[in-house]
Formats: sequence, structure tokens, C-alpha cells
Amino acid sequence: MPKPARPETVCVEAGRGRSVGDPVNPEVHLATTYRQGGTYEYMRKASPSIEPFERAVGALEGGHAVAFSSGMAAAAAVFDGLAVGARVLAPTVAYLGVRELLATRHERGLLDVLFVDQTDTRATIAAMDGAELVWTETPNNPLLGITDLAALAAAAHERGARIAVDATLASPLLQRSLDLGADLAMHSATKSLAGHADVLLGVVATREEADREALVGQRTMTGAVPGPFESFLGLRGIRTLSVRMERCQANAAELAARLSNHAAVSRVRYPGLADHPGHELAARQMSGFGSMLSFEIGAGAEAADAVCRGARLIANATSLGGVETLMERRGRYVEEQPHVPANLIRLSVGCEHVEDLWSDLEGALAAARDR
Ligand SMILES: Cc1ncc(COP(=O)(O)O)c(C=O)c1O
Repeated sequence: MPKPARPETVCVEAGRGRSVGDPVNPEVHLATTYRQGGTYEYMRKASPSIEPFERAVGALEGGHAVAFSSGMAAAAAVFDGLAVGARVLAPTVAYLGVRELLATRHERGLLDVLFVDQTDTRATIAAMDGAELVWTETPNNPLLGITDLAALAAAAHERGARIAVDATLASPLLQRSLDLGADLAMHSATKSLAGHADVLLGVVATREEADREALVGQRTMTGAVPGPFESFLGLRGIRTLSVRMERCQANAAELAARLSNHAAVSRVRYPGLADHPGHELAARQMSGFGSMLSFEIGAGAEAADAVCRGARLIANATSLGGVETLMERRGRYVEEQPHVPANLIRLSVGCEHVEDLWSDLEGALAAARDR
């Protein structure tokens, strides 16, 4: 069979068995233990249910992937592989859970974490000396800032540092982080990879066999291993990733343009908009602008809450990357202060008809104005 070259095909084909008599779709194996002498021994170490999902993410990233029980577990495995006291250069704007994870390790003296605005390439490179790991996130959550992965990777490698990226908002479909120079590409597969807001899952991809082994070792030790059914759902999600992403990002682009022209909206952040500060960089390092956008309500935080409550179709809920459109005011989390404006709503755009989404948003914006 010719090697599937295009990511759309990889999404559908990767991780399947190819031998005569193989099931077309991998099966879910629930056994935790195996008679000794064969390939598998104990589920926390290795499981035939996890591997097809890992092969699919590995194929999309162009490396090997190690699956975890959540995105947070995946990030923690990367940090826990560092020596005590190692300097980590981290972004000031990133998913709040990962920032908290780093800040807590810093407070406990486990890591020496320095936060810097990584959308500023020069400032980030200037802060790199002594860092063992550059941890980055692009596009960042929830401001949709873009970090120059290739520039940071080159600078990090020149200084003997390694670079890991949380590429959850892009997905491996829109950003080939390892090709851009990242040593490790991490995803909360809970989001667009699985895609249906019904499973917690994480993954780290790498090209180095030593990194893969170290991550598997961390996972085995801490038990941060995904369950068989979760891995099955992750792979099931990947099958439709490209068609979902196509619709979601077309919807996002349209909504971003319309919100930009709405009187109640003071600012829209979407990398696909020409006035986005990271637009050209995103066009260079991503193959699409994604399904996430944020917008600010001119009348303030209370009005933004009213918009979130006023929508009928769009759920006022956290998380992102699913087929269903979700929105929430991110400034309501104290951990987002002071970087995220209080009036900022993050919108994860799903696969509904764009006109239904727009009339819901227009109605919610009008209801907030008439309060
Ligand atoms: C960018 C990003 N990274 C990591 C995570 C954590 O992933 P999980 O919830 O699967 O642990 C999230 C969750 O929202 C996220 O948005």
C-alpha cells in the first residue's frame, strides 16, 4: 500500500492493523495483566489499546507519541523528567493549569521557573541563558498569541536548552511542531484530537527514542496512563479531526470577521484576522488559523457575563476543541489575572451551521446591551 502522505489521510488510516485477519478498527482490551512471556505484561506499563492512538498522533506529528490520562498529566511528565532546580523558561500567557503546575513546582523549590512574554521573540531569547527547558504554548490560551517556534527552537538549541510546546490549540493537523524544531510536542487530547467533550486524554510526541522511553518511564511510575476506552475514543476522534477542523475553523473565521464589525465588541483576537499581531507568523507556521477566538465586550465584565448567559445554542462552559461551540469569560478565573482582560470571552467554535451560531451570538450581544 502506498504510504499515506497527507494529514487528512493519516487521520483516517493511522493506527490500523494491516495484516490478514486484523480487525479494521483496533479493539478495546480491558485486561490489566497478561500471562508472562508475551509482548504485554501489565496495563500501567503497556497496553494494546493505547498504542493505536499513540501511533496515530505519532504519524500526525512525524515522531513517536506517548499517551497520558490527561493533558495535565502529559505536561507534568515533561516537568518531572527535569533535574531538581532546573531552569524552565515559561510563557506569561498559557493555559492556567499548566502555569499553576509550573508555579507550584517553583514555590516548592523543584524547578526554577522564569515567566516571559513569549510572543516577544527577542525578549524570550534574551532570557534563555541557563534554561534547561523552554516551555511554550502556541497559539496561547486564551489570548491566541502566536510564538515563533522555529526561532525559539533554534535559539534554545544553540544554548544547549530543549524546547517543548503545548500545541493543543493548533492540533497536530495545523502545526507540525517537531518539524519546526520542538523537541517535544504536547497536546491535551481532551480537546480537538478527541473532539467530542467526552474524554480526558493527553499526549506528548517526540522524535528521540530516549525521550519516548523517559516519558513511558514517568507514566509507568506515576500511573498517569489512559484507560483503554479513553484511548479508543481518542483514536475515534482523530478519524474525523480534519473534517471537523475544516468546518470549525471556517466557522471561526466567519464569526471573527462578523464580531469585528459588531458595535458591542471592542476587540477580536483570531490569528486569521489580518490585524492580529501574530497573523503573518501564524500563516507561516500553521496550515490553518484554528477554531479558537477571543473577543472583548466594550461595556465590561458584567456585560460579558450577560453575553455568556444570554446565548441559547452556545453553551456557557469551559473547555474547547469539541464539535459543540462553547464560550466563557476567562477573566472570572483569578489565575488569569493580570494578563487576561476581565471583559474577554473565549469562544471555542464548533461544527454547527455558522448562521445559527451567529444569530445566537447576535441575540446574546443584544440581550446584554438591553439589560
Ligand atoms: C492549552 C491547554 N493545555 C493543557 C490543558 C490541560 O488539559 P487536560 O484538561 O486534558 O488535562 C488544557 C485544558 O484546557 C489546555 O487548554
